[in-house]
Amino acid sequence: MRAALASQATTSAQHRADMAALGRQMFVDASLSASGRQSCSSRHSPEHAYGPPDGPPIQPGGEHMDRQGLRTAPSLRYVLPRTSVWYKEHQRDPIERAIEIDSVPTGGFARDGRFDNLRDQARAPLFDPAEMANHDEAALAARLRAAPYAQEFARVFGAAALADNAKAVDGLAQALERFELDDPSFAPYSSKFDRYLKGQARLSKQEARGLLVFVDPAKGNCASCHIVAPGANGAPPLLTDYSFAALGVPRNRKLAANADAKFYDEGLCGPLRKPGSIGKDEKYCGMFKTPSLRNVATRQAFMHNGVFDNLADVVRFYAQRDTNPARWYPRQGGKIEQFDDLPPEHRSNVDRLTPPMDRHSGDTPAMTESEILDVVAFLRTLSDDDVRPPAAAARVAPRQVGAGGSARNHVAPSG
Ligand code: HEC
Repeated sequence: MRAALASQATTSAQHRADMAALGRQMFVDASLSASGRQSCSSRHSPEHAYGPPDGPPIQPGGEHMDRQGLRTAPSLRYVLPRTSVWYKEHQRDPIERAIEIDSVPTGGFARDGRFDNLRDQARAPLFDPAEMANHDEAALAARLRAAPYAQEFARVFGAAALADNAKAVDGLAQALERFELDDPSFAPYSSKFDRYLKGQARLSKQEARGLLVFVDPAKGNCASCHIVAPGANGAPPLLTDYSFAALGVPRNRKLAANADAKFYDEGLCGPLRKPGSIGKDEKYCGMFKTPSLRNVATRQAFMHNGVFDNLADVVRFYAQRDTNPARWYPRQGGKIEQFDDLPPEHRSNVDRLTPPMDRHSGDTPAMTESEILDVVAFLRTLSDDDVRPPAAAARVAPRQVGAGGSARNHVAPSG
């Protein structure tokens, strides 16, 4: 009995390994796209922690490589094996419902949490007209049958699966999922911060100051959403709590979809996420998932819409969104149009209570310019050893010098 169980376990371990090995080949295979020029790795570059490679913030794709999607590609490292299924607890009792605040929605894959597992997630770009653009399952299955690993697919999933369009696509999605979940390259934990947590490295003075600002509830308060404390049994922290928040980031006017003044990407309430399980609850409009900040310094475009091109501006935005809104938002008829990437009726959903976003116009920002640069130095310690920061990520110069204040704009970060 025990021997039988052991052999069954080995078979399934072998099957998983075979699937992951297939997934590894599919991940880099551009022949699975309608253009023949785009693979999963075009958006999720292995050299960039499976995040976007160098180049435009939101890269073109589609059958003729001329379509632009809505969002920047997230890094596929770390968040994947642990992202819990999308979850939203409602108070059942009517009295409780009246007095308790609903818990924040949590989890799921993609910036709007619309997928419960990686198989479903993998299908989306394969069929998205702005990405790999397969017209239907038949088209994708035909591409799979012509791939150099088709024989291997038939061995792992069965010849009948390869011959059947729906089953072929299912197998493909499963293999990609296995690769992302099981390949060690998706979770190396090789950053300086990981070594620091294990007592194997020391942070520089500036990085250590940045960490303090990051966790200080009266300053960055970043760790209230981007968790830095190790988890149960000392599991390394993932720099996210998987919750959703509406930060009211500025509209990215370079996005093609935004040429239409009436178009808004509102995260949890669509348009990519369909109403489904959350219904049409308008208080979720504008909420996006808190991303992991591991390897964030390897990126060149930040926030779901890629509106910022350097890390220092992201941190400045948190500090100055409300104290100096004129710096971040355009003027409309003489008035500053704060939270311009949401329709006016949903701007009240933006979080104005969580520090540092609890200030008012003219208040002192929660972080000084040198503290902001300290935080940036800390964020760089979150990069794994195998990824090199792109040249642009090293830029910390302010977009424009803020009005007044104690800003020391020329403090160069070390390391
Ligand atoms: C209320 C929860 C919350 C707090 C507090 C918070 N963040 Fe975030 N953070 C988010 C969410 C949500 C996003 C994604 C927003 C979007 O895409 O529109 C985000 C995005 C980011 C990004 C961009 C990551 C990417 O992949 O594009 C960085 C960098 C970042 N936060 C750093 C910080 C720092 C530094 C602080 C403290 C000064 C902080 N955050 C405080 C929730 C939070």
